[in-house]
Amino acid sequence: MSRKIIAGNWKMNLHLKEGADLISATNSYLNQNPVEHIDVVVAPPAYQLVQSSQLSGNVKLSVSAQNMAAQDNGAFTGELSASMVKDAGAELVIIGHSERREIFGEQDDLLKQKLHKAIDSGLYPIFCVGESLEQRKNGEHFKHIENQLKAGLSDFSSEQLPNIIVAYEPIWAIGTGETASPEQAQEMHAFIRKFLGSHFSAAVADEVSILYGGSVKPGNAKDLFGQPDIDGGLIGGASIKAESFIELIKIGEEVLR
Ligand code: PGA
Repeated sequence: MSRKIIAGNWKMNLHLKEGADLISATNSYLNQNPVEHIDVVVAPPAYQLVQSSQLSGNVKLSVSAQNMAAQDNGAFTGELSASMVKDAGAELVIIGHSERREIFGEQDDLLKQKLHKAIDSGLYPIFCVGESLEQRKNGEHFKHIENQLKAGLSDFSSEQLPNIIVAYEPIWAIGTGETASPEQAQEMHAFIRKFLGSHFSAAVADEVSILYGGSVKPGNAKDLFGQPDIDGGLIGGASIKAESFIELIKIGEEVLR
């Protein structure tokens, strides 16, 4: 069975004090209300990884980087290696977020290298895939997602695959307030699981967590998380306020199975 996960992607938001307050609030909520069914992840800006890891005492609360380099070390100004991410106390790393792909021009072959580096380093990658509005309107969304999955995942072994978390994030639903309907999300999640089933095996596909991302909020989370192939959420806007993030944790614990 796949891990169920509520992950907050802070993006380029929150300064040290705000980040510390959010982690502390989440941590103390989890200490008082132990969760059984889910793992909680926060992905702060890189310079807060150490602080976040130090403050996240609860075993169910892990820290993720938002990005990392494909290289080990050397002359790569502005970059952070997998071993640095680990050194900072993080256990996961987001790879291929659509903002990295679109704004920073990260392409499939680079993302594949990053995924392999993360796995070889013992980090759990959260690998993001998602189509644009235009691709959806043209009916190209399944093909596009299949291409992204093939490009990123095809060289992994069946033993490695369950350590990769896939996040389906339709670009048109990110930060727009527009969410994929539970049916649209489920349809794509089932497609992703089927793809993994045919390239690896049904048993392996069953072990992979597939998160939904794109304007997840307390108001729509129950319906999304209730879908059979949705294993949790990668949450941006609603994850940077303690109140809504904790509400999402509560809903996740209640609904995700
Ligand atoms: P959002 O972001 O929840 O603000 O739409 C999701 C994401 O980009 O991971």
